Amino acid sequence: MDEGELDRRFHAGLGLVREVGQEARRQYRRRDTLAVETKGLQDLVSETDRACEDEIVTTLTRMFPGDAILGEERGLQNAGGDATWVIDPIDGTANFLRGIPLWCVSLGLVHRNVPVIGLIYNPVTDELYAAKSGSGATLNRAKIKVSAVTKLSEARMGIGFSYRRPVAPHARAVSALLEAHCEYSRFGSGALGMAMTADGRLDGYWEAHINIWDVAAALCIVREAGGWTNDFMSGDVFRQGNPILATNPALAAPLQALLPL
Ligand code: IPD
Ligand code: CA
Ligand code: CA
Repeated sequence: MDEGELDRRFHAGLGLVREVGQEARRQYRRRDTLAVETKGLQDLVSETDRACEDEIVTTLTRMFPGDAILGEERGLQNAGGDATWVIDPIDGTANFLRGIPLWCVSLGLVHRNVPVIGLIYNPVTDELYAAKSGSGATLNRAKIKVSAVTKLSEARMGIGFSYRRPVAPHARAVSALLEAHCEYSRFGSGALGMAMTADGRLDGYWEAHINIWDVAAALCIVREAGGWTNDFMSGDVFRQGNPILATNPALAAPLQALLPL
């Protein structure tokens, strides 16, 4: 994909996550009236998740009819071709429904298995993370970079958990972090945990299993902010997901020694 085509997609995506995010924020303010379904253990979906994804898909299909689209709620559409948009319409749905302001719209573009555009918008805080391959990463247009922390004893990791994986290895990982005197936070949005790694508010993000729609955008943002990520795009990642570890380059080795990947 040439630079002009990538740029066109970047700017279209920027407008789209803002627009859809602002609509989601209106729904968030009347969240008690929304229809909610259970997809699995501690795994909810609301009518807003679906409506947001539909809105994004409609616009992208109209603007880029040759691109494939994978969304959490509606699955894969228009498969084939080199470019796939990856959508998590609301990451942090449990927070969204509880009124906790840590949720976001996440939109990534993967080209030949490489995440090349990352857009993450938290409509409550009005924070928009954006990255395009080779152009750096920004938060509300200001350049961001990963933290300079080099010791686990001065670090704070973001971590995540879902019942897609057993409890015991997660508990062991938390214990290993604490034994290494590394602090941790569990915010309930993998995309925002990764984004906060990119801007240095956190020193890393780890989760034993995460799906591609949770982190496709964030992978590009973390890398463009100078961060390190594990080989997340390996294997059958579009269908199966993978473990995720993102951090600054200095903490990559000690964290890999500590956490299961
Ligand atoms: C979840 C959140 C959570 C993470 C889970 C995800 P959802 O996504 O990102 O923080 O731990 O793995 O499934 O359900 O809020 O879109
Ligand atoms: Ca998600
Ligand atoms: Ca979601």
